[in-house]
This record gives sequence, structure tokens and C-alpha cells, in this order.
Amino acid sequence: MRAGVFDSGVGGLTVTKSLMEHRLFDEIVYFGDTARVPYGTKDAKTIIKYSLEALEFLKSFDIDMLIVACNTASAHALEELRKNASFDIFGVIEPGVLAAINALDDKNSSILVLGTKATIASGQYEKLLRKNGYENIVSLAPTLFVPVVEEGLFEGEVLQSAIKHYFGGIRQNPDAVILGCTHFPLIAKAIQDYFPKSALIHSGDAIVEYLQTKCHLRPKANATTLTLLASDNLEGVKKTAQVWLEGLI
Ligand code: DGL
Repeated sequence: MRAGVFDSGVGGLTVTKSLMEHRLFDEIVYFGDTARVPYGTKDAKTIIKYSLEALEFLKSFDIDMLIVACNTASAHALEELRKNASFDIFGVIEPGVLAAINALDDKNSSILVLGTKATIASGQYEKLLRKNGYENIVSLAPTLFVPVVEEGLFEGEVLQSAIKHYFGGIRQNPDAVILGCTHFPLIAKAIQDYFPKSALIHSGDAIVEYLQTKCHLRPKANATTLTLLASDNLEGVKKTAQVWLEGLI
């Protein structure tokens, strides 16, 4: 089975890593729309247009399924994408919410949702969490984290200043932090250091759990082969993939 995995940039590699570790597919064709990243600062119409173009591009690789490894595209374009494909398309928001619910027994647990401006504005995480009885939610869009990650600054001064800038006002260690942007697992260590007692919810682990339980996907005998594609700076994507997917490619 060949899956297409799509993100606005390198963030979807964090989802790809989880998918490859669990050998859920024979092949993954990854497309990062690096020429147009970030999506998270754009309006819904643009996000839908770019996502549909990515879908058409990936269709030419004969994929059997599409994983939208971008929370922003999942928040705004999932419905439109599904109308335009004959195969299954999965986003990362519903799996992320289910993973948070699994991690938190108490409905009064405090949840910090991190995402891009567009993801937070969509209110998708909040809506689904509230529907499941969780009310103690703070949502935040640490916009600078995305360019920091695209620059490969996974640790150091620049990242620490951005973390202090966005998290400085949060007094309480949340019970869970939803990394509602696939770029954020690349800086998960720094986020976990800042909130040592929080359970971090990661889109990659969440979608693996979802595909295993809802679609009954089982590990393949052989390792997944990966094809990397990008609309710009493919070398940069490959470089991040070499570090992030070490031992898998
Ligand atoms: N990877 C995107 C997401 O998960 C964030 C990057 C962007 O703004 O395009 O929302």
C-alpha cells in the first residue's frame, strides 16, 4: 500500500517518522509545500486551494491513501479534499483529540492546545474536546515556532527566547499539551523541559494509533520506502529528514 503524506513543509516528517517506525505502509510519498510554507498564517480559502493542489500532485503518484500531516490543512481543507478523491483521506486533528482523551482520565484536566493561527482560529481542537466533556482548555498560536523549525533551530537561544515569549504568561503546568502543529514535535524536548509534568500529544503517534484501531492497519514485514518531494529546497527537506528519520531511511 502506498500512502501520500502531505504537509506545508518539513513538519509532516514528524508524522512520517511515526508511520515508518510502525511500518504501516509499503511506501510513503512525502510532499512538503516548502515554496508556500507557512500555511498557518493564511486564510481558509488559500489553505484549501494549496491543499487541493497538493492532492492533485500526489494523485499522479498513484497513492492509495492520503495522510494530511498538517494540522492547518486538516483544520480547514479536509472536507474539500475528501470531495475530490476516491481514496481515504485522514487528517491529524481527530486522532490528536482521541490521543488526548486516552491520556487524560479526568475531564477537569487542563489542556494547552498549541497550533498555528489558522488552526487555533478554526476552533477545531476546542470544539472536539468540548464535545467530549473537556472544558479547561487554553489555546495558543506560537507563530514563531514554525520558522524556527524550518530553519532547523531545534535548540538554542532563538528557540528559548520564543518559548519564553509565548509561555511566559502561563502560570500552571497543563496536564496535557497538544502539539497541534506537526512542526512542534521537532522542538518537543524544549517544550517538555518547560512543562515537565505535562503529557505531550503528538500528531504522529496519534495518527498511528488511529490507523491501527479504526482502519486495522498492521505492521508490514518490510521497512517502508520513502520518496521525498518538495515544491522548493528539496535539499533542505532531505537534510532534516536525514536527522529526523535517522535509522529509518
Ligand atoms: N505543519 C503545519 C501544521 O501542522 C504548520 C506549519 C505552517 O504554518 O504551515 O499546522
